[in-house]
Amino acid sequence: MKAAAGLEATLGRVGLRMARSLELRDVLDEITRGLVRDLEAAMARIWLIRPEEPGVLHLVASAGLSERLDGSHARIPFGSLKIGQIAATRTPVCSSDVLEDPRFTDKTWLKDNGLVTCAGYPLEFDDEVLGVLAMFARRPLTELELEWLGIFAAQASVAIENARLFTEVTTLTRRLEAENTYLKEELGDAGRTGIVGQSAALTRALEALARVAPTRSTVLLLGETGTGKELFARALHDKSPRRDGPLVKVNCAAIAPSLVESELFGHEKGAFTGAVQRRLGRFELAHGGTLFLDEIGELPLETQAKLLRVLSEHELERVGGTKPVRVDVRVVAATNRDLSAQVEAGRFRADLFFRLNVFPIELPPLRERRDDIPRLAEAFVASLANRGAAPATVDDDALAYLSAYDWPGNVRELHNVLERASILSRTGRIGVEDLPDLAPRGEVDGGDGDREPAPSGAPLRERVSAYERSLVADALQRAEGNQSEAARLLRTSRATLQYKMKLHRL
Ligand SMILES: Nc1ncnc2c1ncn2[C@@H]1O[C@H](COP(=O)(O)OP(=O)(O)OP(=O)(O)O)[C@@H](O)[C@H]1O
Ligand SMILES: [Mg+2]
Repeated sequence: MKAAAGLEATLGRVGLRMARSLELRDVLDEITRGLVRDLEAAMARIWLIRPEEPGVLHLVASAGLSERLDGSHARIPFGSLKIGQIAATRTPVCSSDVLEDPRFTDKTWLKDNGLVTCAGYPLEFDDEVLGVLAMFARRPLTELELEWLGIFAAQASVAIENARLFTEVTTLTRRLEAENTYLKEELGDAGRTGIVGQSAALTRALEALARVAPTRSTVLLLGETGTGKELFARALHDKSPRRDGPLVKVNCAAIAPSLVESELFGHEKGAFTGAVQRRLGRFELAHGGTLFLDEIGELPLETQAKLLRVLSEHELERVGGTKPVRVDVRVVAATNRDLSAQVEAGRFRADLFFRLNVFPIELPPLRERRDDIPRLAEAFVASLANRGAAPATVDDDALAYLSAYDWPGNVRELHNVLERASILSRTGRIGVEDLPDLAPRGEVDGGDGDREPAPSGAPLRERVSAYERSLVADALQRAEGNQSEAARLLRTSRATLQYKMKLHRL
């Protein structure tokens, strides 16, 4: 080991190098190798605590006598052995005569390697123990040298914490980038087809979207499952001035109620058991962009109050935090529930409902815009073909068949049916025979085929359909099940008859 003055300069150099690297791995190696190479330490090691396993010190870097990380001291519980005690008591352990010091038990190993000094320091940052830095040397160290090493350990702590933060931020950024790429891809995919539909009902929704997108107004998307709420949320973000910012989605129904708050607003370290590190919430992640609160109707009542505060004050408090954090986020919420009914039932706060309901967009169910069904079907089949499914066209009969169904799962269900059909079809066209049995409209709850004629108060479509069904059934009965004969009786083709039989489940 060098004299104290030289030591100071050398530590300064090592410190500078470690502060320059931001990858945790490099920082750790720089510290341990620096101590061995520049300070002639016989061995230098670092143990760190991992957030997911708070009570254990993990050997993460080792230079000199042993470079193995999986040896006998790879995991040291807090408080046990000298290393664990240094962490638990946050007190350095230094000895310039380890062979005589009763605290050191492994005398043979120490003697065999000619070691006389051991110096171990807690690595601390912001009142948090990060781990332990320890080194062995073959000569005694002076008080001054030990003091310098203590200062070095403090610098090392900062470098480690910075590298950790850097890694965290990088991961977050990557995740956001991945999320954005994914969104872009999805949009790109839909981009070729866009939001498909020209029906009056959908056009109204699209016009509303175009009007509200450039503003920062909160938007509430309403509609049954599969009507395109998420698609609209993405389009809204993409048409807004925030399009280059993040679009972050929270599925309020998918998060355990006890975690909703931490998920949305983040938490400070120690806010609750398991909160071993500060965590940014989705609101903060969405800063400068759009936050999509999906299934908002499922948000627990307590969280609703906090959400209201963020919406009105653009400020939030992390769980366990004391100072407010400002956020610039545009909120888009969606639900397939009737929120005003939820308010009446006491399950949703009225004040939050009014805040969210600034600009509601109602997405019509597919059965209320049947004229969009053929367009959607063709767009889906074309985009499926682009993704490698057999290119196909949809027969007119098949389109009519699809248009007759009520689609309780809306566009999503239509998409799924066509995806299956595209895979099944080997002929380059999708016919009725490639489609599953779909109950005609009015029969979504599953009629068994033996239906009453539609009552006289029913819409024209249903009455005509019921009439058509009775004609086909009658012809089949008269032809004793012979389809060619039944088709002849009805003066139609056999294919059409088969289609109608399928349509009416005969
Ligand atoms: N108008 C449309 N044009 C093209 N594709 C659409 C349209 N509407 C919906 N889709 C597609 O249908 C599927 C379901 O849409 P989306 O996920 O947006 O529905 P949702 O309203 O969020 O449903 P849920 O309430 O079940 O979450 C998606 O694949 C979406 O791309
Ligand atoms: Mg959705």
